[in-house]
Amino acid sequence: MKIYLVGFMGSGKTTIGRELAQRLDAPFFDLDELIESAEKTSIKEMFAQKGEPYFRKRERDLLRSTRHLESAVIATGGGTFTFDENIQFIQSEGLSVYLSAPYSLLRARVGVKDDRPLFRDDVSTHELYTSRIRYYRMSDLTIDIREEETPSEIVERLVLELPKNVLDATRRSSWSGRRA
Ligand code: S3P
Repeated sequence: MKIYLVGFMGSGKTTIGRELAQRLDAPFFDLDELIESAEKTSIKEMFAQKGEPYFRKRERDLLRSTRHLESAVIATGGGTFTFDENIQFIQSEGLSVYLSAPYSLLRARVGVKDDRPLFRDDVSTHELYTSRIRYYRMSDLTIDIREEETPSEIVERLVLELPKNVLDATRRSSWSGRRA
């Protein structure tokens, strides 16, 4: 069973995903990292050199490559789960979990860095956030991100919310995968 983490930039998809994978003893993949290693460049460079449409195409391709994984936790990019065909793919492949955080928290976390091409000025970033929420809400499960919680506390809460069959399938297949 695969678990896909979705949500806006800065919601903690990579950090929570890595920790969740450890907790479930399942492999972890970060979609942005898969794209960067396939393209041998950073996302920032890719946007600058080849533009967003090229990035979205590669994002779509690399997302599809997760079809071959039996069991994994996958952190998607902030825009992945806002395209119909990606949403349909994720819905058919596994369980989607939306890490939902207030804009003020995301802004505070990401605002200081400069490595996200779509985290721009406050007005356009807030507009992007607002326009994406309706897609994120199509996820199977929503976890509210609270500022005062550590990643492990959030993961503990997330694990309790996972349907038992998902938990068992993710653990069982990663266990049998290791023995194969
Ligand atoms: C994007 C989010 C980024 C990365 C790219 C585009 C977006 O991922 O995929 O910069 O469209 O929101 P993170 O959400 O991991 O920052």
